[in-house]
Amino acid sequence: MANVRYTIKDLKINVFKASIFGEKMNPILIDIPETIESSTITLQMPKAGYGEGLHQAIMDGYEDYVKYLNWSVVPPTKEMVEEDCRKHHADFILRSFIRYLIIEKATKTIVGRCAFPSFQTNWQIPQFGISYFIRRSSRKKGYATAAAGMMVRLAFEKLRAKKVEIHCDAENNASAQIPLKLGFKLEYTQKGGWPRHDGNLAELQTYSIFSKDPLLHLECVW
Ligand SMILES: CC(C)(COP(=O)(O)OP(=O)(O)OC[C@H]1O[C@@H](n2cnc3c(N)ncnc32)[C@H](O)[C@@H]1OP(=O)(O)O)[C@@H](O)C(=O)NCCC(=O)NCCS
Repeated sequence: MANVRYTIKDLKINVFKASIFGEKMNPILIDIPETIESSTITLQMPKAGYGEGLHQAIMDGYEDYVKYLNWSVVPPTKEMVEEDCRKHHADFILRSFIRYLIIEKATKTIVGRCAFPSFQTNWQIPQFGISYFIRRSSRKKGYATAAAGMMVRLAFEKLRAKKVEIHCDAENNASAQIPLKLGFKLEYTQKGGWPRHDGNLAELQTYSIFSKDPLLHLECVW
């Protein structure tokens, strides 16, 4: 659900050889595209140089990320976000936490980020969760739906996923629209499934999909 800072524990848990139908799969040896294109957005692997643009995206609607993603109430500095971009590049190569910046093609502006969070990833199934945020000034243009759809295709077509999930705070109507538009079904609701920054616990809805077939019409070029 949230985009959180990486920990060494994440690396240890997720970088391992998963067994699928008796075959050994090493996530590091899977070729994962560094960019994925639709006609309106590019998904771009994070790396050095994207910090300033991502910082602007993060500051545009920061209160929503505190509310729904449980980010710190203290916003990051530009330098911290640039440091994150470099660390997230390393995470991408290690396949420990796969993230993409969402770039609006028409303006080359970073409008958000999407990811397969490590704590929602199970390479043994394989199964992936998808998280996303879009800066406030670029919402309701279909970017979250497009980005999440491209991540679903990536999961099924490149990472051999058998199941993909999206977890939403039950009060986050905007977020729940994304899986519903992509053909996910509400699988279960977990009371107290996500910590809120104010100390309360949110009810978490889990939407799931078991096939890429409903998404084959989506533009997705790698
Ligand atoms: C949730 C979020 C990513 C949606 O991004 P977005 O780019 O505006 O989403 P889309 O444009 O793809 O919208 C998909 C659908 O949801 C609808 N929608 C978007 N925001 C909505 C809102 N606040 N209330 C109701 N519906 C909404 C859109 O109208 C669209 O439906 P339509 O095509 O029938 O018009 C964005 O609001 C956000 O970043 N919120 C803060 C972070 C967050 O909550 N992340 C998700 C954590 S699980």
